[in-house]
Amino acid sequence: MITVQVELGPRSYPVMVGRGARHALSEVLPSGVSRAAVVTQEAVPVTVDPGVTHQRFVIGPDEGAKRLSTVEDLCRGFARFGLTRADVVIAVGGGVVTDAAGFAAAVYHRGVAVVHVATTLLAQVDAAIGGKTGVNLPEGKNLVGAFWQPAAVMCDTETLETLPTDEYRSGCGEMAKYHFLDAEGLGGDDLADLSLDERVARCAAIKAEVVSSDERESGRRAVLNYGHTLAHALETAGGYGLRHGEAVSVGLVFAARLAHRLGRIDEARVQDHLKVVRSYELPEAVPEGVDAGELVTLMERDKKATRGMTFVLDGPRGVEVIPAVARADVEATLKEMR
Ligand SMILES: NC(=O)c1ccc[n+]([C@@H]2O[C@H](COP(=O)([O-])OP(=O)(O)OC[C@H]3O[C@@H](n4cnc5c(N)ncnc54)[C@H](O)[C@@H]3O)[C@@H](O)[C@H]2O)c1
Ligand SMILES: [Zn+2]
Repeated sequence: MITVQVELGPRSYPVMVGRGARHALSEVLPSGVSRAAVVTQEAVPVTVDPGVTHQRFVIGPDEGAKRLSTVEDLCRGFARFGLTRADVVIAVGGGVVTDAAGFAAAVYHRGVAVVHVATTLLAQVDAAIGGKTGVNLPEGKNLVGAFWQPAAVMCDTETLETLPTDEYRSGCGEMAKYHFLDAEGLGGDDLADLSLDERVARCAAIKAEVVSSDERESGRRAVLNYGHTLAHALETAGGYGLRHGEAVSVGLVFAARLAHRLGRIDEARVQDHLKVVRSYELPEAVPEGVDAGELVTLMERDKKATRGMTFVLDGPRGVEVIPAVARADVEATLKEMR
């Protein structure tokens, strides 16, 4: 088992990565816990033993479960179960479960401890770490939420064996992004040369380091959105059959080509991006039939945009937020992506 520490002063916590990590669950529960509310989905074939009195709460099967009524149902269930402020919520599932259960934990009794047992690759390298929780509104994704750091995160790579192939691929898109965020000091070796456990742990360590430096996303944490500006535009424009991680993959290649056009990176670095997304068998081109003008308009509306178009781009100092990118460069880069 590999343990990565998320350093946030009094809110610090371990991320434990490895086959069978879930079996260490009882060891990471906060002291004094006498009850655990286990929140999961029917399709998650993972059972956990918290070692204390527990009850299972099942939420809906897909992204639709990330809604306020789920939070109300959970909190009412917790109350009927007798969950107190001294107890714990345990989220067992992918990002939908950790986001919704994490938010319920953040608001139940004005905050009760939560432990995430992440069972998708995407949740293990991304969603379960960093304390962003929340649900969607019909008006938009993740519009209601809270920063609520977990007490621990368990990334049990054994649970990935039952994950549907397309969900695994989607997680790979998120993993691909970390190849370009691997900050100095975390190890000089290439992410590509690591075993799955080591790679999940390295991604967790990169995310942990970024979150430690900017818990509430007032600046640097935005680098975790590398590849996401175009990805979100593709998703808003209809998805074009791309899973989130696949859209991120196209977004990474786009960001590399844009950075090259702006003279920030050389062609070899663009090829590094292609090599990484190909190694995960992820897409690299904007799908046929996509209206480039619509994508540009959607990217202009991106929430990061404060002056001009803003992107997260690679460069001599690594990946950083770059404002005031000219629309013409964005359009020309998209044309290259066909
Ligand atoms: N909070 C954050 O920082 C953050 C970051 C990234 C993404 N997210 C959120 O995460 C969500 C996506 O998460 P996801 O990609 O994990 O998808 P998901 O949670 O929808 O899980 C995908 C599917 O796999 C099933 N599943 C989960 N674990 C399984 C297992 N071990 N075996 C078989 N089936 C399993 C689920 O029931 C679901 O049907 C989005 O809502 C996104 O907004 C949050
Ligand atoms: Zn993402």
